[in-house]
Amino acid sequence: MDSLKISTEAEAVASRLHKSGLLRTQGLIGGKWVDAYDRKTIKVYNPATGAVIADVPCMGGKETNDAISSAYEAFYSWSKLTAAARSRYLRKWYDLLIAHREELGQLITLEQGKPLKEALGEVSYGAGFIEFSAEEAKRVYGDIIPSPLADRRLFVLKQPVGVVGAITPWNFPLAMITRKVGPALACGCTVVIKPSEITPLTALAAAELSLQAGIPPGVVNVVMGNASDIGDSLLASTQVRKITFTGSTAVGKKLMAGAAGTVKKVSLELGGNAPCIVFDDADLDVAVKGALAAKFRNSGQTCVCANRVIVQEGIYEKFANAFSKAVQNLQVGDGFTEGVAQGPLINEAAVQKVESFLQDAISKGAKVLLGGKRHSLGMTFYEPTVVSDVNGEMLLSREEVFGPVAPLLRFKTEDEAIHLANDTNAGLAAYVFTNNIQRSWRVSEALEYGLVGVNEGVISTEVAPFGGVKQSGLGREGSKYGLDEYLEMKYVCLGNMNSN
Ligand code: SIN
Repeated sequence: MDSLKISTEAEAVASRLHKSGLLRTQGLIGGKWVDAYDRKTIKVYNPATGAVIADVPCMGGKETNDAISSAYEAFYSWSKLTAAARSRYLRKWYDLLIAHREELGQLITLEQGKPLKEALGEVSYGAGFIEFSAEEAKRVYGDIIPSPLADRRLFVLKQPVGVVGAITPWNFPLAMITRKVGPALACGCTVVIKPSEITPLTALAAAELSLQAGIPPGVVNVVMGNASDIGDSLLASTQVRKITFTGSTAVGKKLMAGAAGTVKKVSLELGGNAPCIVFDDADLDVAVKGALAAKFRNSGQTCVCANRVIVQEGIYEKFANAFSKAVQNLQVGDGFTEGVAQGPLINEAAVQKVESFLQDAISKGAKVLLGGKRHSLGMTFYEPTVVSDVNGEMLLSREEVFGPVAPLLRFKTEDEAIHLANDTNAGLAAYVFTNNIQRSWRVSEALEYGLVGVNEGVISTEVAPFGGVKQSGLGREGSKYGLDEYLEMKYVCLGNMNSN
Protein backbone atom coordinates (compact mmCIF):
# COMPACT_ATOMS: atom_id res chain seq x y z
CA MET A 1 0.00 0.00 0.00
CA ASP A 2 3.04 2.30 0.28
CA SER A 3 2.98 3.12 -3.38
CA LEU A 4 -0.60 4.31 -3.17
CA LYS A 5 -1.17 7.89 -4.29
CA ILE A 6 -4.57 9.33 -3.89
CA SER A 7 -5.98 12.51 -5.41
CA THR A 8 -7.80 14.89 -3.08
CA GLU A 9 -11.07 14.52 -4.98
CA ALA A 10 -11.07 10.77 -4.64
CA GLU A 11 -9.69 10.74 -1.09
CA ALA A 12 -12.94 9.98 0.69
CA VAL A 13 -13.85 7.19 -1.67
CA ALA A 14 -10.37 5.72 -1.62
CA SER A 15 -10.13 5.81 2.15
CA ARG A 16 -13.42 3.92 2.49
CA LEU A 17 -12.15 1.36 0.02
CA HIS A 18 -8.86 1.14 1.86
CA LYS A 19 -10.64 0.51 5.18
CA SER A 20 -12.71 -2.26 3.66
CA GLY A 21 -9.48 -3.91 2.42
CA LEU A 22 -10.70 -3.69 -1.15
CA LEU A 23 -8.11 -1.29 -2.50
CA ARG A 24 -5.56 -3.89 -3.56
CA THR A 25 -2.54 -2.73 -5.53
CA GLN A 26 -0.63 -5.96 -6.13
CA GLY A 27 -1.12 -8.95 -8.39
CA LEU A 28 -2.50 -12.23 -7.05
CA ILE A 29 -0.50 -15.40 -7.67
CA GLY A 30 -1.20 -18.65 -5.85
CA GLY A 31 -3.21 -16.84 -3.16
CA LYS A 32 -0.41 -14.33 -2.41
CA TRP A 33 -0.44 -10.61 -3.18
CA VAL A 34 2.76 -9.86 -5.08
CA ASP A 35 4.61 -6.99 -6.77
CA ALA A 36 6.22 -7.22 -10.19
CA TYR A 37 9.45 -9.20 -9.76
CA ASP A 38 11.48 -6.21 -10.97
CA ARG A 39 9.24 -3.89 -8.87
CA LYS A 40 8.17 -1.88 -11.92
CA THR A 41 4.77 -0.22 -11.62
CA ILE A 42 2.17 1.48 -13.75
CA LYS A 43 -0.20 4.23 -12.73
CA VAL A 44 -3.96 4.00 -12.61
CA TYR A 45 -5.73 7.29 -13.32
CA ASN A 46 -9.12 8.75 -12.56
CA PRO A 47 -10.28 9.70 -16.09
CA ALA A 48 -12.54 12.45 -14.72
CA THR A 49 -9.68 14.37 -13.09
CA GLY A 50 -6.46 12.93 -14.43
CA ALA A 51 -5.34 12.28 -10.84
CA VAL A 52 -3.33 9.17 -10.06
CA ILE A 53 -5.39 6.73 -7.97
CA ALA A 54 -2.73 4.09 -7.40
CA ASP A 55 0.36 2.37 -8.73
CA VAL A 56 -0.02 -1.31 -9.63
CA PRO A 57 2.65 -3.81 -10.65
CA CYS A 58 3.81 -3.87 -14.25
CA MET A 59 4.09 -7.64 -14.59
CA GLY A 60 5.24 -9.67 -17.56
CA GLY A 61 6.08 -13.19 -18.69
CA LYS A 62 7.74 -14.44 -15.47
CA GLU A 63 4.84 -13.53 -13.19
CA THR A 64 2.37 -14.89 -15.76
CA ASN A 65 4.18 -18.23 -15.92
CA ASP A 66 4.04 -18.47 -12.13
CA ALA A 67 0.36 -17.61 -12.16
CA ILE A 68 -0.22 -20.33 -14.77
CA SER A 69 1.70 -22.86 -12.61
CA SER A 70 -0.42 -21.93 -9.58
CA ALA A 71 -3.63 -22.27 -11.58
CA TYR A 72 -2.41 -25.59 -12.98
CA GLU A 73 -1.63 -26.94 -9.50
CA ALA A 74 -4.95 -25.73 -8.10
CA PHE A 75 -6.85 -27.27 -11.00
CA TYR A 76 -6.28 -30.78 -9.70
CA SER A 77 -8.19 -30.29 -6.44
CA TRP A 78 -10.68 -27.64 -7.64
CA SER A 79 -11.87 -29.79 -10.53
CA LYS A 80 -12.25 -32.77 -8.18
CA LEU A 81 -14.65 -30.93 -5.84
CA THR A 82 -18.30 -31.78 -6.18
CA ALA A 83 -20.31 -29.35 -8.25
CA ALA A 84 -22.28 -28.56 -5.09
CA ALA A 85 -19.09 -27.54 -3.27
CA ARG A 86 -17.97 -25.27 -6.12
CA SER A 87 -21.47 -23.84 -6.20
CA ARG A 88 -21.26 -22.93 -2.49
CA TYR A 89 -17.96 -21.09 -3.00
CA LEU A 90 -19.42 -19.14 -5.90
CA ARG A 91 -22.54 -18.29 -3.92
CA LYS A 92 -20.38 -16.96 -1.08
CA TRP A 93 -18.40 -14.87 -3.57
CA TYR A 94 -21.65 -13.50 -5.00
CA ASP A 95 -22.91 -12.62 -1.50
CA LEU A 96 -19.67 -10.71 -0.81
CA LEU A 97 -19.81 -8.86 -4.13
CA ILE A 98 -23.34 -7.73 -3.29
CA ALA A 99 -22.41 -6.89 0.32
CA HIS A 100 -19.67 -4.61 -1.10
CA ARG A 101 -21.77 -3.24 -3.95
CA GLU A 102 -21.29 0.38 -2.88
CA GLU A 103 -17.50 0.19 -2.63
CA LEU A 104 -17.16 -1.75 -5.89
CA GLY A 105 -19.42 0.74 -7.67
CA GLN A 106 -17.31 3.62 -6.36
CA LEU A 107 -14.15 1.89 -7.50
CA ILE A 108 -15.58 1.42 -10.99
CA THR A 109 -16.51 5.12 -11.18
CA LEU A 110 -13.12 6.10 -9.83
CA GLU A 111 -11.03 4.21 -12.38
CA GLN A 112 -13.41 3.92 -15.34
CA GLY A 113 -15.43 7.13 -15.08
CA LYS A 114 -18.98 5.86 -15.63
CA PRO A 115 -21.67 7.52 -13.49
CA LEU A 116 -22.05 5.94 -10.06
CA LYS A 117 -25.62 4.80 -10.76
CA GLU A 118 -24.41 2.97 -13.86
CA ALA A 119 -21.42 1.58 -11.94
CA LEU A 120 -23.72 0.20 -9.23
CA GLY A 121 -25.77 -1.35 -12.04
CA GLU A 122 -22.59 -2.97 -13.33
CA VAL A 123 -21.92 -4.49 -9.91
CA SER A 124 -25.39 -6.08 -9.84
CA TYR A 125 -25.01 -7.20 -13.46
CA GLY A 126 -21.49 -8.54 -12.86
CA ALA A 127 -22.34 -10.28 -9.59
CA GLY A 128 -25.31 -11.85 -11.41
CA PHE A 129 -22.89 -13.94 -13.50
CA ILE A 130 -21.41 -15.39 -10.32
CA GLU A 131 -24.83 -16.14 -8.85
CA PHE A 132 -26.04 -17.69 -12.10
CA SER A 133 -22.84 -19.77 -12.37
CA ALA A 134 -23.28 -20.97 -8.79
CA GLU A 135 -26.71 -22.27 -9.78
CA GLU A 136 -25.65 -23.73 -13.14
CA ALA A 137 -22.62 -25.48 -11.62
CA LYS A 138 -25.06 -28.14 -10.42
CA ARG A 139 -26.55 -28.65 -13.86
CA VAL A 140 -23.54 -29.68 -15.96
CA TYR A 141 -25.11 -32.88 -17.27
CA GLY A 142 -23.61 -35.54 -19.48
CA ASP A 143 -25.53 -37.89 -21.75
CA ILE A 144 -26.26 -41.56 -22.29
CA ILE A 145 -26.37 -42.60 -25.93
CA PRO A 146 -28.46 -45.64 -26.96
CA SER A 147 -25.86 -48.15 -28.08
CA PRO A 148 -26.01 -49.72 -31.55
CA LEU A 149 -24.42 -52.88 -30.06
CA ALA A 150 -26.07 -54.92 -27.29
CA ASP A 151 -22.89 -55.48 -25.29
CA ARG A 152 -21.87 -51.85 -25.10
CA ARG A 153 -22.95 -48.77 -23.14
CA LEU A 154 -22.06 -45.34 -24.47
CA PHE A 155 -22.01 -42.15 -22.52
CA VAL A 156 -20.74 -38.59 -22.65
CA LEU A 157 -18.97 -36.86 -19.77
CA LYS A 158 -18.57 -33.09 -19.57
CA GLN A 159 -15.23 -32.13 -18.01
CA PRO A 160 -13.48 -28.81 -17.37
CA VAL A 161 -11.04 -27.69 -20.08
CA GLY A 162 -8.32 -26.84 -17.55
CA VAL A 163 -6.50 -23.57 -16.92
CA VAL A 164 -8.18 -20.55 -18.54
CA GLY A 165 -6.52 -17.27 -19.51
CA ALA A 166 -9.12 -14.50 -19.23
CA ILE A 167 -8.23 -11.18 -20.85
CA THR A 168 -10.68 -8.40 -20.09
CA PRO A 169 -11.32 -4.78 -21.14
CA TRP A 170 -11.61 -1.47 -19.29
CA ASN A 171 -15.22 -0.59 -20.17
CA PHE A 172 -16.77 -3.07 -17.69
CA PRO A 173 -14.03 -3.55 -15.09
CA LEU A 174 -16.11 -6.08 -13.12
CA ALA A 175 -18.76 -7.63 -15.34
CA MET A 176 -16.44 -8.78 -18.13
CA ILE A 177 -14.40 -10.65 -15.52
CA THR A 178 -17.29 -12.31 -13.70
CA ARG A 179 -18.89 -13.27 -17.02
CA LYS A 180 -15.79 -15.37 -17.75
CA VAL A 181 -14.61 -16.47 -14.33
CA GLY A 182 -18.06 -17.48 -13.00
CA PRO A 183 -18.73 -20.21 -15.58
CA ALA A 184 -15.05 -21.23 -15.68
CA LEU A 185 -14.99 -21.90 -11.93
CA ALA A 186 -18.43 -23.52 -11.99
CA CYS A 187 -17.18 -26.05 -14.52
CA GLY A 188 -14.04 -26.81 -12.47
CA CYS A 189 -11.51 -24.69 -14.37
CA THR A 190 -8.98 -22.39 -12.70
CA VAL A 191 -8.09 -18.97 -14.10
CA VAL A 192 -5.37 -16.44 -14.77
CA ILE A 193 -7.06 -13.07 -15.25
CA LYS A 194 -5.39 -10.22 -17.08
CA PRO A 195 -7.55 -7.15 -16.53
CA SER A 196 -7.01 -4.00 -18.51
CA GLU A 197 -4.05 -1.99 -17.17
CA ILE A 198 -6.37 1.05 -17.29
CA THR A 199 -8.85 -0.41 -14.77
CA PRO A 200 -7.15 -3.15 -12.72
CA LEU A 201 -8.37 -2.05 -9.27
CA THR A 202 -11.90 -3.45 -9.58
CA ALA A 203 -10.46 -6.78 -10.75
CA LEU A 204 -8.15 -6.88 -7.74
CA ALA A 205 -11.00 -6.04 -5.37
CA ALA A 206 -13.11 -8.83 -6.88
CA ALA A 207 -10.16 -11.22 -6.50
CA GLU A 208 -9.78 -10.17 -2.84
CA LEU A 209 -13.44 -11.04 -2.30
CA SER A 210 -12.91 -14.42 -3.97
CA LEU A 211 -10.26 -15.14 -1.31
CA GLN A 212 -12.60 -13.93 1.45
CA ALA A 213 -15.21 -16.33 0.03
CA GLY A 214 -12.75 -19.15 0.71
CA ILE A 215 -12.02 -19.97 -2.93
CA PRO A 216 -8.69 -21.83 -2.58
CA PRO A 217 -5.36 -20.18 -3.46
CA GLY A 218 -4.41 -20.57 -7.11
CA VAL A 219 -7.96 -20.96 -8.39
CA VAL A 220 -8.14 -17.23 -9.18
CA ASN A 221 -4.92 -15.44 -10.17
CA VAL A 222 -4.52 -11.88 -11.46
CA VAL A 223 -1.58 -10.46 -13.39
CA MET A 224 -1.38 -7.09 -15.13
CA GLY A 225 1.19 -4.89 -16.78
CA ASN A 226 2.91 -5.61 -20.07
CA ALA A 227 -0.06 -6.80 -22.13
CA SER A 228 1.87 -8.37 -24.98
CA ASP A 229 4.28 -10.27 -22.68
CA ILE A 230 1.40 -11.55 -20.56
CA GLY A 231 -0.60 -12.49 -23.66
CA ASP A 232 2.40 -14.28 -25.22
CA SER A 233 2.97 -16.32 -22.04
CA LEU A 234 -0.67 -17.33 -21.86
CA LEU A 235 -0.64 -18.32 -25.54
CA ALA A 236 2.67 -20.21 -25.39
CA SER A 237 1.81 -22.28 -22.33
CA THR A 238 0.67 -25.83 -22.96
CA GLN A 239 -0.93 -25.74 -19.49
CA VAL A 240 -3.38 -23.01 -20.53
CA ARG A 241 -6.14 -24.81 -22.42
CA LYS A 242 -8.46 -21.93 -23.13
CA ILE A 243 -8.27 -18.22 -23.88
CA THR A 244 -11.32 -16.05 -23.35
CA PHE A 245 -11.11 -12.44 -24.45
CA THR A 246 -13.28 -9.35 -24.64
CA GLY A 247 -11.83 -6.44 -26.56
CA SER A 248 -10.95 -5.16 -29.99
CA THR A 249 -11.30 -7.24 -33.14
CA ALA A 250 -7.65 -6.58 -34.04
CA VAL A 251 -6.35 -8.04 -30.76
CA GLY A 252 -8.89 -10.88 -30.94
CA LYS A 253 -7.52 -11.94 -34.31
CA LYS A 254 -3.96 -11.96 -32.93
CA LEU A 255 -5.03 -14.09 -29.96
CA MET A 256 -6.85 -16.50 -32.24
CA ALA A 257 -3.76 -16.89 -34.41
CA GLY A 258 -1.54 -17.21 -31.31
CA ALA A 259 -3.74 -19.87 -29.78
CA ALA A 260 -3.23 -22.05 -32.86
CA GLY A 261 0.33 -22.93 -31.75
CA THR A 262 -0.98 -24.96 -28.81
CA VAL A 263 -4.48 -25.58 -30.25
CA LYS A 264 -6.35 -23.92 -27.39
CA LYS A 265 -10.07 -23.40 -27.19
CA VAL A 266 -10.87 -19.72 -27.84
CA SER A 267 -13.86 -17.50 -27.01
CA LEU A 268 -13.83 -13.99 -28.40
CA GLU A 269 -16.20 -11.13 -27.72
CA LEU A 270 -15.02 -8.46 -30.15
CA GLY A 271 -16.12 -5.15 -31.60
CA GLY A 272 -19.57 -4.41 -32.94
CA ASN A 273 -21.16 -1.91 -35.31
CA ALA A 274 -24.70 -2.06 -33.99
CA PRO A 275 -27.53 -0.80 -36.18
CA CYS A 276 -30.53 0.67 -34.42
CA ILE A 277 -33.39 0.58 -36.95
CA VAL A 278 -36.37 2.85 -36.36
CA PHE A 279 -39.36 2.09 -38.61
CA ASP A 280 -42.14 4.54 -39.45
CA ASP A 281 -44.54 2.39 -37.42
CA ALA A 282 -42.46 2.60 -34.22
CA ASP A 283 -43.76 4.23 -31.06
CA LEU A 284 -41.72 7.44 -31.08
CA ASP A 285 -41.25 7.65 -27.30
CA VAL A 286 -40.19 4.00 -27.07
CA ALA A 287 -37.77 4.44 -29.97
CA VAL A 288 -36.21 7.60 -28.51
CA LYS A 289 -35.82 6.05 -25.06
CA GLY A 290 -34.44 2.81 -26.49
CA ALA A 291 -32.01 4.47 -28.92
CA LEU A 292 -30.80 6.80 -26.17
CA ALA A 293 -30.05 3.88 -23.85
CA ALA A 294 -28.47 1.80 -26.61
CA LYS A 295 -26.25 4.68 -27.76
CA PHE A 296 -25.23 6.52 -24.60
CA ARG A 297 -24.68 3.69 -22.10
CA ASN A 298 -21.20 4.18 -20.63
CA SER A 299 -20.83 7.31 -22.83
CA GLY A 300 -21.02 5.14 -25.93
CA GLN A 301 -18.17 2.92 -24.77
CA THR A 302 -19.69 -0.56 -25.05
CA CYS A 303 -19.42 -3.11 -27.86
CA VAL A 304 -23.21 -3.26 -28.05
CA CYS A 305 -23.78 0.51 -28.22
CA ALA A 306 -25.88 1.60 -31.19
CA ASN A 307 -23.28 2.74 -33.73
CA ARG A 308 -25.70 3.63 -36.54
CA VAL A 309 -29.23 4.90 -35.96
CA ILE A 310 -31.02 3.95 -39.19
CA VAL A 311 -34.34 5.79 -39.45
CA GLN A 312 -37.17 5.39 -41.99
CA GLU A 313 -37.90 8.52 -44.00
CA GLY A 314 -41.49 8.98 -42.75
CA ILE A 315 -40.41 9.36 -39.11
CA TYR A 316 -36.89 10.71 -39.69
CA GLU A 317 -37.47 14.42 -38.93
CA LYS A 318 -39.74 13.76 -35.93
CA PHE A 319 -37.31 11.21 -34.53
CA ALA A 320 -34.26 13.44 -35.13
CA ASN A 321 -35.93 16.31 -33.21
CA ALA A 322 -37.19 14.24 -30.29
CA PHE A 323 -33.94 12.28 -30.03
CA SER A 324 -31.79 15.44 -30.11
CA LYS A 325 -33.92 16.96 -27.32
CA ALA A 326 -33.45 13.85 -25.20
CA VAL A 327 -29.69 13.84 -25.86
CA GLN A 328 -29.48 17.51 -24.90
CA ASN A 329 -30.85 16.63 -21.46
CA LEU A 330 -28.01 14.21 -20.71
CA GLN A 331 -25.94 15.78 -17.97
CA VAL A 332 -22.18 15.46 -18.47
CA GLY A 333 -19.75 15.42 -15.56
CA ASP A 334 -17.79 13.54 -12.93
CA GLY A 335 -19.51 10.21 -12.30
CA PHE A 336 -19.75 10.96 -8.58
CA THR A 337 -21.98 14.02 -9.18
CA GLU A 338 -25.68 13.39 -8.63
CA GLY A 339 -27.69 13.42 -11.86
CA VAL A 340 -24.72 12.93 -14.20
CA ALA A 341 -25.56 10.56 -17.06
CA GLN A 342 -22.38 10.89 -19.13
CA GLY A 343 -18.91 10.52 -17.68
CA PRO A 344 -15.57 11.21 -19.37
CA LEU A 345 -14.17 9.10 -22.17
CA ILE A 346 -11.50 6.70 -20.99
CA ASN A 347 -8.49 8.62 -22.36
CA GLU A 348 -7.24 11.19 -24.83
CA ALA A 349 -6.87 8.60 -27.61
CA ALA A 350 -10.60 7.85 -27.31
CA VAL A 351 -11.47 11.54 -27.74
CA GLN A 352 -9.16 11.87 -30.72
CA LYS A 353 -10.83 8.88 -32.35
CA VAL A 354 -14.26 10.49 -31.93
CA GLU A 355 -12.92 13.77 -33.34
CA SER A 356 -11.38 12.12 -36.38
CA PHE A 357 -14.57 10.14 -37.17
CA LEU A 358 -16.66 13.28 -36.87
CA GLN A 359 -14.28 15.26 -39.05
CA ASP A 360 -14.45 12.55 -41.70
CA ALA A 361 -18.28 12.61 -41.63
CA ILE A 362 -18.49 16.41 -41.85
CA SER A 363 -16.05 16.47 -44.75
CA LYS A 364 -18.34 14.02 -46.57
CA GLY A 365 -21.55 16.01 -46.00
CA ALA A 366 -22.88 15.03 -42.55
CA LYS A 367 -24.50 17.75 -40.40
CA VAL A 368 -24.00 18.16 -36.67
CA LEU A 369 -27.42 18.60 -35.03
CA LEU A 370 -26.10 18.71 -31.47
CA GLY A 371 -22.73 18.70 -29.71
CA GLY A 372 -19.81 17.86 -31.94
CA LYS A 373 -16.98 19.08 -29.75
CA ARG A 374 -15.08 18.59 -26.50
CA HIS A 375 -17.08 19.55 -23.43
CA SER A 376 -16.24 22.77 -21.58
CA LEU A 377 -15.36 20.61 -18.52
CA GLY A 378 -12.12 19.78 -20.31
CA MET A 379 -10.19 16.53 -19.71
CA THR A 380 -11.74 13.79 -21.83
CA PHE A 381 -15.33 14.98 -21.51
CA TYR A 382 -17.12 15.13 -24.86
CA GLU A 383 -20.49 16.65 -25.68
CA PRO A 384 -23.23 14.10 -26.42
CA THR A 385 -23.55 14.45 -30.17
CA VAL A 386 -26.17 13.82 -32.86
CA VAL A 387 -25.17 13.89 -36.53
CA SER A 388 -27.61 13.68 -39.45
CA ASP A 389 -27.20 12.87 -43.16
CA VAL A 390 -24.68 10.13 -42.44
CA ASN A 391 -24.12 7.58 -45.20
CA GLY A 392 -22.43 4.21 -45.57
CA GLU A 393 -19.19 5.75 -46.86
CA MET A 394 -18.36 7.54 -43.63
CA LEU A 395 -16.13 6.12 -40.90
CA LEU A 396 -18.97 6.80 -38.45
CA SER A 397 -21.02 4.06 -40.08
CA ARG A 398 -18.21 1.72 -41.13
CA GLU A 399 -16.41 1.43 -37.78
CA GLU A 400 -17.17 1.52 -34.09
CA VAL A 401 -16.85 5.11 -32.81
CA PHE A 402 -16.86 4.01 -29.14
CA GLY A 403 -17.98 7.43 -27.95
CA PRO A 404 -21.08 9.59 -27.42
CA VAL A 405 -21.85 10.26 -31.08
CA ALA A 406 -25.14 9.14 -32.64
CA PRO A 407 -25.06 9.13 -36.45
CA LEU A 408 -28.49 9.20 -38.15
CA LEU A 409 -28.90 7.42 -41.49
CA ARG A 410 -32.09 7.50 -43.59
CA PHE A 411 -33.80 4.60 -45.37
CA LYS A 412 -36.94 4.01 -47.44
CA THR A 413 -37.84 0.29 -47.40
CA GLU A 414 -37.49 -2.65 -45.00
CA ASP A 415 -35.16 -4.41 -47.46
CA GLU A 416 -32.93 -1.35 -47.63
CA ALA A 417 -32.77 -1.17 -43.82
CA ILE A 418 -31.75 -4.83 -43.58
CA HIS A 419 -29.14 -4.38 -46.29
CA LEU A 420 -27.69 -1.30 -44.58
CA ALA A 421 -27.69 -3.03 -41.18
CA ASN A 422 -25.91 -6.14 -42.47
CA ASP A 423 -23.39 -4.23 -44.59
CA THR A 424 -20.53 -4.68 -42.11
CA ASN A 425 -18.07 -7.33 -40.99
CA ALA A 426 -19.33 -6.96 -37.44
CA GLY A 427 -22.34 -8.85 -36.06
CA LEU A 428 -22.75 -8.37 -32.31
CA ALA A 429 -25.91 -6.43 -31.37
CA ALA A 430 -28.75 -4.88 -33.37
CA TYR A 431 -31.87 -2.99 -32.30
CA VAL A 432 -35.23 -2.70 -34.04
CA PHE A 433 -38.08 -0.34 -33.20
CA THR A 434 -41.45 -1.20 -34.73
CA ASN A 435 -44.99 -1.89 -33.61
CA ASN A 436 -45.56 -4.40 -36.39
CA ILE A 437 -45.25 -7.89 -34.96
CA GLN A 438 -44.66 -9.61 -38.33
CA ARG A 439 -41.96 -7.10 -39.19
CA SER A 440 -40.24 -7.57 -35.84
CA TRP A 441 -39.94 -11.32 -36.53
CA ARG A 442 -38.92 -10.88 -40.18
CA VAL A 443 -36.26 -8.31 -39.42
CA SER A 444 -34.90 -10.13 -36.35
CA GLU A 445 -34.46 -13.24 -38.48
CA ALA A 446 -32.79 -11.35 -41.31
CA LEU A 447 -30.27 -9.48 -39.15
CA GLU A 448 -26.82 -11.09 -39.15
CA TYR A 449 -26.22 -10.43 -35.47
CA GLY A 450 -25.81 -12.46 -32.28
CA LEU A 451 -28.20 -10.29 -30.23
CA VAL A 452 -31.32 -8.41 -31.29
CA GLY A 453 -33.30 -6.01 -29.13
CA VAL A 454 -36.84 -5.31 -30.33
CA ASN A 455 -38.32 -2.13 -28.82
CA GLU A 456 -35.59 -2.29 -26.17
CA GLY A 457 -32.16 -0.66 -26.01
CA VAL A 458 -30.44 -2.54 -23.18
CA ILE A 459 -30.79 -6.30 -23.43
CA SER A 460 -27.70 -7.72 -21.69
CA THR A 461 -28.42 -10.12 -18.84
CA GLU A 462 -26.61 -13.04 -17.25
CA VAL A 463 -29.45 -15.42 -18.18
CA ALA A 464 -29.24 -14.91 -21.98
CA PRO A 465 -26.42 -15.83 -24.38
CA PHE A 466 -24.18 -12.88 -25.27
CA GLY A 467 -21.90 -13.04 -28.29
CA GLY A 468 -21.47 -12.13 -31.92
CA VAL A 469 -21.34 -13.59 -35.42
CA LYS A 470 -19.01 -12.72 -38.32
CA GLN A 471 -15.95 -10.80 -37.05
CA SER A 472 -17.63 -9.89 -33.75
CA GLY A 473 -16.43 -13.10 -32.22
CA LEU A 474 -16.76 -16.72 -31.32
CA GLY A 475 -18.70 -18.41 -28.55
CA ARG A 476 -21.29 -17.18 -26.10
CA GLU A 477 -21.08 -15.82 -22.57
CA GLY A 478 -23.73 -15.96 -19.88
CA SER A 479 -26.78 -18.28 -19.81
CA LYS A 480 -26.66 -22.07 -19.74
CA TYR A 481 -24.80 -21.98 -23.09
CA GLY A 482 -21.92 -19.98 -21.61
CA LEU A 483 -20.76 -22.98 -19.58
CA ASP A 484 -20.11 -25.08 -22.70
CA GLU A 485 -17.17 -22.78 -23.50
CA TYR A 486 -15.33 -24.16 -20.44
CA LEU A 487 -16.17 -27.83 -20.95
CA GLU A 488 -14.74 -30.67 -22.96
CA MET A 489 -16.90 -33.58 -24.01
CA LYS A 490 -15.58 -37.05 -23.39
CA TYR A 491 -17.18 -40.07 -25.01
CA VAL A 492 -16.82 -43.25 -22.97
CA CYS A 493 -17.63 -46.65 -24.41
CA LEU A 494 -18.12 -49.44 -21.90
CA GLY A 495 -17.69 -52.81 -23.66
CA ASN A 496 -18.05 -56.46 -22.80
CA MET A 497 -21.30 -55.74 -20.95
CA ASN A 498 -22.74 -59.24 -21.44
CA SER A 499 -20.16 -61.02 -19.27
CA ASN A 500 -20.85 -61.47 -15.56
C1 SIN B 1 -19.21 -5.00 -23.91
O1 SIN B 1 -19.23 -3.84 -24.21
O2 SIN B 1 -18.30 -5.73 -24.32
C2 SIN B 1 -20.23 -5.66 -23.01
C3 SIN B 1 -21.53 -4.98 -22.97
C4 SIN B 1 -22.58 -5.72 -22.15
O3 SIN B 1 -22.28 -6.70 -21.47
O4 SIN B 1 -23.73 -5.32 -22.24
